Amino acid sequence: MCGIIGYIGAGDVCRIIVSGLKRLEYRGYDSMGVAIGNGGTIEVRKGAGRIDDLVNRFHMLDLKGDRGVGHVRWATHGSPNDTNAHPQLDCTGKIAVVHNGIIENFDELKRMLEARGHVFRSQTDTEVVAHLIEEELKKHADFEAAFRSALRELRGSFALGVVYADDAESLYFARMESPLVLGVGDHGMFAASDVPAFLEHTRRVVLMDDGEYAILRRNSWEVKEIESGRTVPKEVHEVSWTLEMAEKGGYPHFMLKEIYEQPEAIAATLAGSLKRIGEFADMLYNHDKVILVGMGTSFHSALFGKYILQRVLGITPIVEEASEFRYLYDGVLDDDTLVVAITQSGETADTLAAIKLAKRSGSKVLSIVNVVGSMATRLSDGVIYTHAGPEIGVAATKTYTSQLAVLAALAFTANDDRDGINDLRKVPEKIRETLNVRDRVAELADVVRDKRGFFYISRGVNVPTAMEGALKLKEISYVYAEGLSAGELKHGPLAVVEEGTPVIAIAPADDLYKKTLMNVEEAKARGAFTVLLSDEHGDGDAADFQIDMPEMNPLLTPMVYAVPLQLLAYELAVRLGRDPDKPRNLAKSVTVE
Ligand code: F6R
Repeated sequence: MCGIIGYIGAGDVCRIIVSGLKRLEYRGYDSMGVAIGNGGTIEVRKGAGRIDDLVNRFHMLDLKGDRGVGHVRWATHGSPNDTNAHPQLDCTGKIAVVHNGIIENFDELKRMLEARGHVFRSQTDTEVVAHLIEEELKKHADFEAAFRSALRELRGSFALGVVYADDAESLYFARMESPLVLGVGDHGMFAASDVPAFLEHTRRVVLMDDGEYAILRRNSWEVKEIESGRTVPKEVHEVSWTLEMAEKGGYPHFMLKEIYEQPEAIAATLAGSLKRIGEFADMLYNHDKVILVGMGTSFHSALFGKYILQRVLGITPIVEEASEFRYLYDGVLDDDTLVVAITQSGETADTLAAIKLAKRSGSKVLSIVNVVGSMATRLSDGVIYTHAGPEIGVAATKTYTSQLAVLAALAFTANDDRDGINDLRKVPEKIRETLNVRDRVAELADVVRDKRGFFYISRGVNVPTAMEGALKLKEISYVYAEGLSAGELKHGPLAVVEEGTPVIAIAPADDLYKKTLMNVEEAKARGAFTVLLSDEHGDGDAADFQIDMPEMNPLLTPMVYAVPLQLLAYELAVRLGRDPDKPRNLAKSVTVE
C-alpha cells in the first residue's frame, strides 16, 4: 500500500502536495517524493525516510511550480532507498510517475523495454510505466493517447499519477483496483489515494472506478474509460467527514479499518506472491526438517502453517515460539534444516534471534514478512512478502490473515494443487461476505460485555484460530481468555467453566464438526454460555448463540473465521472503554527479548 496525490492550480503547489502526503502517511512511510512541474520543466526530489526529514533534506518547499504529483511509499518491489522512492522517471526525464499497487507483468514489460534501449535505474515495478509511456509517445502524437495505450498494456493493480514536462496544462491519473479519488477545488484540481489528502482544500469529490483514467486541468476535470477512451459522466459528491475521520477512512479506529481491509490485503498478497512462490516451495522439499517460528499472532500463523503443510504436502513441520527456539535447537541444527520465520514487522527481537541462530548453524531461513527492508529480510536466504500495507493498529489483523494466505499459497503451489489455489483466490470474497456479521457480533458483545473469562475452542486447522481469537480479546479488551483445542477442554480447563462463562466454538461443517459440537454440549451442561461459529445451520439450538459463516474449503476457514473473532474483540474493547488501536503495555514491534 502506498499513497499518491496530485494537484494542478493556484497557490504553493509543493506545499499543498507535501501537506497532502502527511495525511496519507498511514498508507506508507518508508520513503517519499514529489515531482513539481513548472511550465516546460519538472523537478523531482525524493528519498528514503520520513516526510519531515526529507522535506528539510531536499529543501522541497523551495520548489515553485504550477502542477505536481507526490508519493508516500510502502515498499513492495525493491527495498526502501532513494532510487526506489517515487516518482520514477523515463529515460528523457520528462515523464514522472507515482504509483500505488503492483504491476504484475512488469518483468515482461521491462525485458521488452530494455530490448528497445530503455535504461532502468530502480528495482521498482513502477518505473516500467514511465518507460512504457515514453515508448508509446513514439507512436502517438498526443500524450493522452500514449498514456491510454500504455495503461492498456498494464496487468495488476494501480492508482497512477503522471506529470509530463511538455504538457504544462494537465495532470494524468488512472485507476485499476487501487483507490483513487478526485477533488474539485475553487482554485485547482486534486487527485489522491484518499480524501484526507486534500480535505483541507475541498470537500467536493469525484469517485473514480476501476478501468478509468482522468485528466486534470486548472479549472476542469474529465474521466474516461481506459478501454474505449469514451468520457464517463460523473457526479460531484460533497463529503461531510472531519479530517480525523477521513484519515481512518471514516472508521473510528485503525483496527476496524484494517479488519475491513482484509479482502484487499489478501488479494494483494496473492497477486504479489503467487508468481514467485514456486522457488520457495522447492525449499520445503529440499530440506529434511522444516521448523516454523514466530511470536504472538505470527506464532499462530506458524501453527496454521503446520496444519496446512501437513495436510496438503504430507510433511511434518515443527513449530516453535521463536523465544524458546534457541533453548531447544542450539547445537542441533544443520544445513538440512529450513527455518521459516514469520514476522509482520521483521524486527521482533525473539524472531531475529531465532533467525541468527539458524544462520549460525548453517540452516537456511525463509521469512514471511510485511515490512520490506526490515532486519528479518536482510538476514534471510529467501523472503515472501505479505502485501497487507502498513498496519497501524497494535493488534495484528490484516497481516495475520495475509500470513495465512502466504502459507496456504506455499502449500498449494508446492503440491501443484490448482483447485486449492482457486479456492484461495475466493477467500477475499468470503471475507467480504463475513464482514456482514458485524451487527450480529455487536449483539454478542452486548450479551457478554460483563464476562471476565472466555474460552475459545476448536479442532484441527482452526485450533490456531481459537488461540488467535483469545489473544485478540486479551490484547485489546484486557479480559482474560484462553484458546485451546476442544479435546483439551475436559482435561482441566473445564473446571473453570461456571454459569455464564462464554465458550466460543469455531466449528466449520467439516469432518470434525460433530466432535467439536460434543465439547460444546459438555460446556453447556456446566452452565457455559456457548457460541458457535459455523456454516452448519441444521443444529439450530446446538449453542446459545450462533454466528453463520459462509461455506468454503475447510482448510482455508482460518482466514475467514478469524474475522468475527477480531470484530468481537474490537466490539468488546469499545464497550469497555479501551482504545483498540493502542492497548496498554503493548508495542507494535517488540524489539527487546
Ligand atoms: C498481536 C500482535 C503480536 C505480534 C508479535 C509478533 O496482535 O500483534 O502478538 O504478532 O509481537 O510480531 P511480528 O509479527 O512483527 O514479529
